Formats: sequence, structure tokens, C-alpha cells
Amino acid sequence: MLPFCYPLFACCHCRMNSDILNPINLTPAWARLHQHQRATRFVHMRELFQTDPDRARRFTLQLDGLLLDYSKNRITERTLELLTGLAEEADLAGWMARMQGGERINVSERRAVLHTALRLPEGEAQWVDGEDVALEVHAVLRRLRLFVERVRDGDWLGMDGRAITDVVNLGIGGSDLGPLMVHEGLAAYAHPRLRVHFVSNVDGQHIARTLAGLDPATTLFIVASKSFTTPETLLNAEAAKSWFLQAGSPADIARHFVAVSTNAEAVAAFGIDTKHMFGFWDWVGGRYSVWSAIGLPVMLAIGYERFREFLDGGHAMDRHFFTAPFGSNMPVLMALIGIWYNTFYQAHTHAIMPYDHGLRRLPAHIQQLDMESNGKRTGRFGQPLDFDTGPVIWGEEGANSQHAFFQLLHQGTRLVPCDFIVPMNSHYGLDDMHRVLVANCFAQSEALMRGKSEAEVMAELAHLPGEEMDMLLPQKLFPGNQPSNTLALDKVTPYLLGMLLALYEHKVFVQGVIWGINSFDQWGVEYGKQLARRILPELDADTALAEGHDSSTQALIRHFRSRHE
Ligand code: F6P
Repeated sequence: MLPFCYPLFACCHCRMNSDILNPINLTPAWARLHQHQRATRFVHMRELFQTDPDRARRFTLQLDGLLLDYSKNRITERTLELLTGLAEEADLAGWMARMQGGERINVSERRAVLHTALRLPEGEAQWVDGEDVALEVHAVLRRLRLFVERVRDGDWLGMDGRAITDVVNLGIGGSDLGPLMVHEGLAAYAHPRLRVHFVSNVDGQHIARTLAGLDPATTLFIVASKSFTTPETLLNAEAAKSWFLQAGSPADIARHFVAVSTNAEAVAAFGIDTKHMFGFWDWVGGRYSVWSAIGLPVMLAIGYERFREFLDGGHAMDRHFFTAPFGSNMPVLMALIGIWYNTFYQAHTHAIMPYDHGLRRLPAHIQQLDMESNGKRTGRFGQPLDFDTGPVIWGEEGANSQHAFFQLLHQGTRLVPCDFIVPMNSHYGLDDMHRVLVANCFAQSEALMRGKSEAEVMAELAHLPGEEMDMLLPQKLFPGNQPSNTLALDKVTPYLLGMLLALYEHKVFVQGVIWGINSFDQWGVEYGKQLARRILPELDADTALAEGHDSSTQALIRHFRSRHE
């Protein structure tokens, strides 16, 4: 008998049998890939480039102003053919259709997954249970537009009649990382009067330091929380309210606090008029929510029209994803190549290096997107997964990262697939500097791929006495064969940033489908929250410690009690 059944998901149901009875790691497609890896693992990419002058052209895709060069990977056409076979085995096309069709593919929460509906142009429908949710999306966008235009035009007045100068977004996780990253990335488009700040951490210094320079009479707070139950955000919102009420009255809150949430009741209970709440829906996951009203701080900074361009960029990537054949589909290819290393080479990490100061928070956003989505050991129907799943995502802006961790990439012992992201043009002039930045980016991926051979090092050291050469030679060798993708944007525009983000979202989805994961729940973050709720009162010296703590946790609680002033 099957462990459980979701009668609501007639179409997912037959997949459940298949996932459980025919796990992906027991399929012939999986076995063929292992065999292919064993047969090709000593091939150096340098040879692949030498024997095929056309390689870069064949392994490059361009969509509008976004180019993906995936030629510096340990792949051949045969590898892609086998990986595509794996995607077919996992019924990728079926899951894409189920997602697009509004089926409740987030089976553990019984929700549809429709962040793509947030990016639809007006006039295109998205049906869920007989209802066109795109109509609601556009209704909220219209309300957002009116609000944003009033604030930007200086018509939304603070308590003493002055225009808003500072916006503080209070949110965490998906209610922070996405908007923060996009806001930073598009700083070149920012409104000249409005400064946007982001407060996420429950460490009080974050809000204290942010509020220190602000005037309550010209500050607007956005309390951004899908659930409106997240303690970090609610504590920050309470702290902001207390700070505000030192200068303003409760009646002034309406002009200085707005909310973005799916939970109107909790918003009202907090004291924000639901007239000043912008909603979204349970079919938008937190880490996929920057396209919804959660993007309000971005919209305030760059204006509605630019935000629409961001949505249009996301939508262009959606169209590409849902229609292009797998072999020329950017998200599918990035996902398959990622699986090639993660699953078949057992590479455990994946680094993301934006060569753009504005995109320096992109690795953190993708970290949540990828690790909260695919950091799972159980399949979507509860079946155990007997193989490694989501990699550790990390990264840092280039060129700074070159002076920090690139040593390990070049000469360490680990296989670390990388994504290099670089704009061809800067918003900020200083072209000489931009050229140096771009040259560094291209040089790193070239060096990682080529390496430096013994003959090349010997030629460099030819002038040295033999003993010194013997000592230095191995230290100056670069094995190379480190894989990377390069994503080149014409410029970091709202449209192209929208494309880039949607590209990563779909990549994560495809990997989840192949591994048999539900990429849209996050049960793993709940347990720590539960224990924190238990420990909080125990930090008080008068409260007895609950049974069941291990000796380390008990000792740490006692240590806090004895040292806390
Ligand atoms: O960390 C778990 C999580 O639920 C994330 O998925 C989410 O983005 C974040 O907390 C914030 O949640 P909310 O928007 O409901 O406050």
C-alpha cells in the first residue's frame, strides 16, 4: 500500500507511484551517466577546446541581452544527451506543465506554485481551480502603483506634512534577501530623494543602527512578512513602532507603517490599517516573492515602470523556459550541468561570483533560493533519497573574491563549479575600471579552465638553478579543469536582472524535479524555531530548565544566566 495519497492531486498521484517504485537513482539514465563520468573523468577541458575550435559557439546561448557561455564545463554533446535523458526520465516536461497549469505541486502544503503568474503581462490569464489569479495580481499591482507614485512624487505626507525621505523594510529571508539584492542591483535607477534601508536581523543592533540617523516624521516602514508570524520581523516592527511613537501619535501610524503580507488578520492585530496592506497569495513561496508586493521597496526606489520591466524580464525567461527544447533551454542546461557535478562528480559546493558591486548580495539570495528549496533528504512523496541533493551555495563579488578564496579554486583539492556573472557595460562611467573588472572576470574562468602545465611552468622558471626549480615547480602548477558558466548581461537593467533571477529560479526547480524533491516547502527551518521558543524563557534565571536538553545546551543556558548583566 502507498504511504499516503493526495486525492486533490490526481495528476501528481500517478507520479507518486513512479517516484516511489522507480527512484531516479535506479534508472538506466542514471547508471549511464555514472558510466559516462567514469569514462570521461580524466579528459581535460583544455583538450576539448583544442580539438574543437567551434566549442564556445556550440555551447553558448543568448536570449535578449543575456548570454550564457557554458563551454567551460566538463561536458560533450554526449554528456548533454545523457543528462537530457535523465530529465526525460524524471518527467521534467510533465512537472513543468503541472507547474504552469497551476496544479498543487507543492504537495506537502497542498499549494500551487505560481510565482510565474506574478510576471504575466496584463491580459494573460493564469487559471487555478477555475479562477484567473492574474486578475488579482494586476489589481494589487495597480494599488501598488498608486501608492508608489504618491510616495515618489512627495504626495504621501508624513505626520508633519513633509514628504517621505526614508523607507525601512522590515522582513527576513525571502521578505528581505530578494528585495535587498534587487534594490542594490538597480541602485543606478534609484529615486534621488528616497533612501531605502533593510532591517532583517533580530540582533537589535541592526534596527538601532538603521534608525539612528532617521527622522520619524519622514520615515515610512514596510512590515514585510508573508505569514506575519515571523518573530524576527515582528520584534523589529515592534521596535520600530516604539521608536516612532516617541515622536508621533498612534493616529500617525497610518501614514508611516504599511504591510505586505498574506495574513490580513495579523496585520490588523499589529495595528496597521489593512487599507495600507498589500497582499499576495499562498502560491508564492517566500524565496520567490520579490516579484509580488514584497518587491515594494524596490518599486519605491526605481518606480513602477522600471519594476514592470523587471517583471517583463522574468516573464521573458519564463516563456523561454516553458517553450525552448531542453538542449537550448538556459535554466534546463544550467540545472543539468549542476547535476552532472553534484551527483556524478560528487562536487558538494557551487560558487557564484557576480563581477558587479551592485549584485554583491546575489549569492546570498541564490543561497536561500537554492538551499531552502533543494536542501532536502526526502523526496516529494516522503520517500528517502539515497543520493546527494542540493549543493552548498556560496560566493562573493569579484574582484574582491579573487583576493580571498580563489587560491583554493585554483590550487586546492576540491572540485568547485562556478558561475561568473558580469555586465558588459557599467552604469557608472569609469570605463577604464570597468574594463579591468571584466578582464579579471574573463581571466579567472580562463585560468580555472586551462590551468598551467608543467611545460609552461618550466619555461617560466628556466632561469633558476635546478634545485630551486624543483622546489617551485609543483607549487606553481595549476591543474585547471575547474568548470564554470559565464553569464554576461549587456548591463544590469531591471529587465535583464529579472531574466537572471528567473533563470536561477527555474534552474533550482529543474534540479528539484530530477532529484524528486518538492522545492517549495521548508520544513527544515521549523525545528530550530521550535527549540528557540522553548529556550527563550529559560534564559531567565527564575525559570526551571526543561527536561531533555543535552548537557552542552544546559551549560550554555546557565552560562548566559551567569554572565548576562
Ligand atoms: O526561514 C523560513 C522562512 O519561512 C522563509 O522561507 C521565509 O522567506 C522567511 O522565513 C520569512 O517568512 P515570512 O515572510 O513569513 O516572515
